[in-house]
Amino acid sequence: MDLGIRGKRALVCASSKGLGLGCARALAEAGVDLVMNARGAEALEAAAKAIRKDFGVTIVTVATDVTTEEGRALILEAATGVDILVNNAGGPPPGMWSDWDREDFIKALDANMLTPIALIKALVPGMMARGWGRVVNITSQSVKGPIAQLGLSNAARAGLTGFVAGTSRQVARHGVTINNLLPGSHATDRIAALEENLARSLNISREEASARRKAEIPAGRYGAPAEFGAMCAFLCSQHAGFIVGQNILLDGGQTNVTL
Ligand SMILES: NC(=O)c1ccc[n+]([C@@H]2O[C@H](COP(=O)([O-])OP(=O)(O)OC[C@H]3O[C@@H](n4cnc5c(N)ncnc54)[C@H](OP(=O)(O)O)[C@@H]3O)[C@@H](O)[C@H]2O)c1
Repeated sequence: MDLGIRGKRALVCASSKGLGLGCARALAEAGVDLVMNARGAEALEAAAKAIRKDFGVTIVTVATDVTTEEGRALILEAATGVDILVNNAGGPPPGMWSDWDREDFIKALDANMLTPIALIKALVPGMMARGWGRVVNITSQSVKGPIAQLGLSNAARAGLTGFVAGTSRQVARHGVTINNLLPGSHATDRIAALEENLARSLNISREEASARRKAEIPAGRYGAPAEFGAMCAFLCSQHAGFIVGQNILLDGGQTNVTL
């Protein structure tokens, strides 16, 4: 399917690895020029080089922390006038509800709620003026079904979800859509770390930990960043203009909900 977005420009935040990289690659495959970001320059440059080679698109890289005001200023300097914004950043650490203090919450809210909102506020007005735009926020399955030890993530992402629910309906008539993609377990570095934690805490092998995690997923496997990216690229396509303010789970059926 031709996604109809060849020649558009996208900012994909936190995209040197994992799900962000999956989104960057899928958009590049559709012919979209990119602004890519991550904190570590080495992995970012390597990812950009591979995408240029594979798809021949133009890529600008900005190695900085998207969750800081200075970082966002640098990113926005490179991303002025983009047609597509993919919001992403690392997730907050796991823990126990009674241990988190105000500073922990502020940090999580900054990274996973206020950062995407700041980028939406900076870039959506231009999209509205041009009559076309797409915003996809990478959130989590924890928005639909809480993951107890990820309380900071549950809280911050629920806040962003509430903001998107109202805002997406205010900007839709200007040709701009805002939607959220909710990953379940995908095969990224983050999942490798979770498997290692589980293996250590239960004193089992890494293979056993992996098998136990996969057994909880009706699809019987982890998702791939490439299939996550394909859904992101579709939401950014010409065909998705009537999809507004939705929360789309990509979790192999793991979240046990009817709607
Ligand atoms: N993978 C899953 O199964 C899953 C499930 C549910 C939710 N999620 C959420 O989805 C998001 C992406 O997860 P992932 O699995 O793709 O993670 P990942 O494989 O660890 O990749 C994270 C990417 O984001 C970059 N990054 C992290 N913090 C950043 C920051 N402050 N500023 C700029 N770039 C940053 C990293 O590069 P640098 O470290 O060099 O900055 C890297 O490129 C996270 O918020 C995660 O909590 C993931």
